[in-house]
Amino acid sequence: MANLTGKKILLGVTGSIAAYKAAFLVRLLIKAGAEVQVLMTKAGGSFISPLTLSTLSKRPVHTDISSEESWNNHVEMGLWADAMVIAPLTASSLAKMACGISDNVIAATYLSARCPVFFAPAMDLDMWQHPATQENVRRLQSYGNHLIPVGHGELASGLVGEGRMAEPEEIVAMLSRFWEKEQSLAGKKVMITAGPTYEPIDPVRFIGNRSSGKMGIALADAAARRGAEVSLILGPSRLSPQEKRVQSIPVQTADEMYQAARKAFQDADIVILSAAVADYRPRETATQKIKKTGDTLQMELVKTPDIAAALGREKRTGQLLVGFALETENELANAQSKLEKKNFDLIVLNSLQDAGAGFNYDTNKITILGKDNKIRKFELKSKQAVAEDILDEVEALRGGGDS
Ligand code: PMT
Repeated sequence: MANLTGKKILLGVTGSIAAYKAAFLVRLLIKAGAEVQVLMTKAGGSFISPLTLSTLSKRPVHTDISSEESWNNHVEMGLWADAMVIAPLTASSLAKMACGISDNVIAATYLSARCPVFFAPAMDLDMWQHPATQENVRRLQSYGNHLIPVGHGELASGLVGEGRMAEPEEIVAMLSRFWEKEQSLAGKKVMITAGPTYEPIDPVRFIGNRSSGKMGIALADAAARRGAEVSLILGPSRLSPQEKRVQSIPVQTADEMYQAARKAFQDADIVILSAAVADYRPRETATQKIKKTGDTLQMELVKTPDIAAALGREKRTGQLLVGFALETENELANAQSKLEKKNFDLIVLNSLQDAGAGFNYDTNKITILGKDNKIRKFELKSKQAVAEDILDEVEALRGGGDS
C-alpha cells in the first residue's frame, strides 16, 4: 500500500487526452496521504476542467503564472514541494522543459523547483519515437529528473504502440518507492573519497588533476538522503555537500587522504573511492618558491600510498568496497584488472572517450563491473542520478549478501 503521508506534491497537467487520468491520480495521491497542488497549462484545461481537479485536491488550480487578481509565485511553489510530478507531459511541454523555456506556469515552476521531478510522457507512438523527443527525454534525465516510463497499448489515434501515460497507480507506487528508498541506509556508515589531491612542489605550485569533486559530493549527498552517516574525505574543491548529515573532512595531499581514509574506514560499512588521487608526489617540497634558472628543471617523484589497495587488504567481512576507474583506452580490461588487484566488490568505470563523462562535467556515463563478471552499462546522466544508480547497485549487492 502506497504511503505518501505528509508529502507535498506539485502535479503539472499538460494538454493531452491522458489528462483525464489526472483526476484519478489526484485522488490516489490524496488517499496515500499527500497534499496536492495542481498546475495546468491552458491546453491541459481543455481536456479536464480545473474545477474537477481543484475539487479533488481541495486547492485552487493554477493555470497561469498570473491572473488579473494575483500572481502565482512559481518560485515559492517550487520550494514548497517535496516532489513535482508532470503527468501527462506532452511532446511540446517536454521540449520546453528540456530547453528551459518558461512560458507557462508548469515550465516556470519546473525551472524553479529544487525537489525531485518526475515526468510521465503521453503522446502518439511516432511522436514518442521521434529522435527529437527521445533526445529531450535523455536531456531531462541528464538533469536528474525521473522518467515514469510510458506504457504500451492502444493510443488516442487508434494506433497501438508505446506512448501511453503510465497508470495513476504506477505513478503513486513509484513515488512511494522513491521515498521508501530514502531511509534504506539508515544506521549505516558510509565513507567516500572525492576530488583531486594536490602534491606541493613549492609554496605556490603543485601536481594536481582536473577533478572537481562533483561525483563524490553527489554520492555523499545521495547516501545521506538515504539515511546514512557519511564521512566525505574531500580533496581541494570549491564545492561542498548540501546534506547536513555529511561530515566533510578536507584534505590536500594523497598522504592526508590516506590517513583520513584509514581512520574513517575502521567503522565504515560502505566505502566508495571516487577521488582522483595523485600516484606520485615530489620527493622534496621546496620551502621557498623555485626560481627560474636553467632551461630544464628535474624533479624526482615518489609513489603516493595507494589508498584503495591498502583498504582492499584490510577489508573485513561485511564491509563493501567500491572503486572507480577513470580510463582512456582498454576501458573494460583495465577496470576489471583494478577490481581484482584492489579487492573491490564493485568498480565504477568512466571513460574520457565518452562525451560528457569524467572530470568536472555535471554529467557522467558509467559502467559498473562486479566480481561475478556482471557488467551494467548506464546512459549519460546527471552526476546526482549516477550517484543513485551506484547506491542502488551497492544496496542490491548488500541485500544479496555478497560482500
Ligand atoms: O570530481 P569530478 O570532476 O566529478 O570527476 C569525477 C572523477 C572522474 C574523478 C571520478 O568519476 C573518477 O573516475 N574517480 C577515479 C579517478 C581515478 O583516479 O581513477 P584510477 O583509475 O586512477 O584509480 C582507481 C581507484 O583507485 C579509484 O577508486 C581511486 O580513487 C583509487 N586510488 C587511486 C590511486 C591512489 N593512490 N589511491 C586510490 O585510492
